[in-house]
Amino acid sequence: MTGSVGAPAERREGREKVSGTARYAAEYHVPGRAQAWPVPAAVARGRVTGVDTAAALTVPGVLAVLTHENAPRLREPDDATLAVLQDPRVPHRGWFVALVVAETLEAARAGAAAVRVAYDAEGHDVALTASHPGLYVPEEANAGAPGLREQGDPDGAFDSAAARVDVVYRVPPLHNHPMEPHASTARWEDGRLTVHTSSQGTNAVRAALAGLFGLPEERIVVTAEHVGGGFGSKGTPRPDVVLAAMAARQTGRPVTVSLPRRYLPAVVGHRAPTLHRLRLGADEDGHLSSLTHEVGTHTSRIKEFVEHAAVPARVMYAAPHRRTVHRVAALDVPSPSWMRAPGEAPGMYALESAMDELATELDMDPIELRVRNEPDVEPDSGLPFSSRHLVECLREGARRFGWAGRDPRPGTRREGPLLRGTGVAAATYPVMVGPSTAAARALPDGTYLVRVNATDIGTGARTVLAQVGADALGVPLERVRIEIGSSELPSAPLAGGSSGTASWGWAVHEACARLARRLAEHTGPLPEQGVEARADTTGTADAESERARHAFGAHFAEVAVDTVSGEVRVGRLLGVYAAGRVLNARTGRSQFVGGMTMGLGMALTEGSTMDAAFGDFTESDLASYHVPVHADVGEIEAHWLDEDDPWLNPMGSKGIGEIGIVGTAAAIGNAVHHATGVRFRELPLTPDRVL
Ligand code: MOS
Repeated sequence: MTGSVGAPAERREGREKVSGTARYAAEYHVPGRAQAWPVPAAVARGRVTGVDTAAALTVPGVLAVLTHENAPRLREPDDATLAVLQDPRVPHRGWFVALVVAETLEAARAGAAAVRVAYDAEGHDVALTASHPGLYVPEEANAGAPGLREQGDPDGAFDSAAARVDVVYRVPPLHNHPMEPHASTARWEDGRLTVHTSSQGTNAVRAALAGLFGLPEERIVVTAEHVGGGFGSKGTPRPDVVLAAMAARQTGRPVTVSLPRRYLPAVVGHRAPTLHRLRLGADEDGHLSSLTHEVGTHTSRIKEFVEHAAVPARVMYAAPHRRTVHRVAALDVPSPSWMRAPGEAPGMYALESAMDELATELDMDPIELRVRNEPDVEPDSGLPFSSRHLVECLREGARRFGWAGRDPRPGTRREGPLLRGTGVAAATYPVMVGPSTAAARALPDGTYLVRVNATDIGTGARTVLAQVGADALGVPLERVRIEIGSSELPSAPLAGGSSGTASWGWAVHEACARLARRLAEHTGPLPEQGVEARADTTGTADAESERARHAFGAHFAEVAVDTVSGEVRVGRLLGVYAAGRVLNARTGRSQFVGGMTMGLGMALTEGSTMDAAFGDFTESDLASYHVPVHADVGEIEAHWLDEDDPWLNPMGSKGIGEIGIVGTAAAIGNAVHHATGVRFRELPLTPDRVL
């Protein structure tokens, strides 16, 4: 071991990024490249009865207008959101009904404005309510989670509980809005397709394109060298990559499709709204006897996607009687999809807010309440935890935050117009790992080349994989080069589910350890092409090690609520995590802080409104959908425990990309209650609600 892992190594592509030389998907200026601009549907449900392209085709520079009548035919995809321009059906407003290809972006945009689309509109239903007649319990919510789980008699136990909380929370639709909008550049040459795309994983993009265009995967190359964020919205292929490939085939030119930001909410997925009802029943000492978390949410007409927000309640607290259930209604809305900590972020907001309400009801410290309900095994499955240090996170956080001596009375700390308060919430996120491959080569010049189709979506994947490789080889970090971001490299899973580093790192570790063994046996100088070793890891520990694997954390927030303006200011956020081994202290901290910042946005500023009349999201750009800016963010601290979990992977890491968002909104909401004495149960906590 050379001790690279854990060190705060600087991100390798940092200079390229800050100097503007890092190349993103829309920045491949290949000769003859054309640009395209899509046309979104202007009705929420119905059929296209005609597309008049005559005016668009007279715009100087316009090369072609693709519609469902003339676009290349695709094979039916597994993911119905990719079947663009194949039929006249409009499943939701914003669905693309045409694509204008032109010499320049300006011409494409002008052409798109000149396209006239006629519709046969039908009545639409986009309004989710807790009593919507279309709600049903799905067999499975996302991530393979059962739609319903029930143990004991949760209703009876609740009715006879000494302390009870029966509350309803609401989380609005949320949008991913990565800094780099979804974009793809595609070109065809001799029946081969090359695509540069903004994606969290190019192997899945290649597979989807192979299916859609009926091509063997060997004839497709997909790269994602740099990606300006994704937060789940780039976890699966999106229409931009399909449209770029179709347009390039149709026009015989390389084509870039860079989606205008205002079109993103309708076509790249969103976090579906969730309606929560929580019923917590406890004895006088705060021990939960009954825990019920019911979630209502929406999906689209073309794809069942069920935000699994009742799932964390299956992990968090001991209670003998329990029910966790999802109900979903298929509405005429855009298809929801993955967004950072899907399930856990909204689910833990509701659960951890309700726990705070129960603590108030019991007149008990909210940390103590959680400690008393710490389970011995995972409550739903009965499996032992691989490691669980939630209590240690809460205690360590309390110490660092200065929780001791807190006056629990709400609404009593007034300074001029400000009311001050503090709050706490727990966080959890599952450990996910996928199969991966990697190759490692020792070269005669003393360097090592590690190749793996990982994707860096802003996390510093290159850097941390080099650290893992260097340690497995027993060489200094600077001797290890890393190649990632292309489907030509050894196959690897996506950067998603906080699983990237664990999955790729496992294969990198294995390939490098194998190479080190091979080199130890090698005598004489290395051949010119070097010596290579490969690894193919399954991402699963041996069968006997069945454990419930989750990361845990504790979030603390300090807020000031302005009683004149209704504004909530978060002066301080503090998180303590138990997430296995943190492999790079610098990039790891950035991920925690990034997640907490996104949680702050979820708490205070981010929210989307489904307009019932138009069937569309009202907040479609960054002028109306408010992500936190520097001025919104006070002091943020992220700490972690040195958690040694032998049930994970050779690095001992759990995954850290998502847990930072999970408990943040609840901690802030709980602090707002502590400040004001008022319990707000709908996010975001904007001045109009708080005042
Ligand atoms: Mo993340 S929402 O699992 O890409």
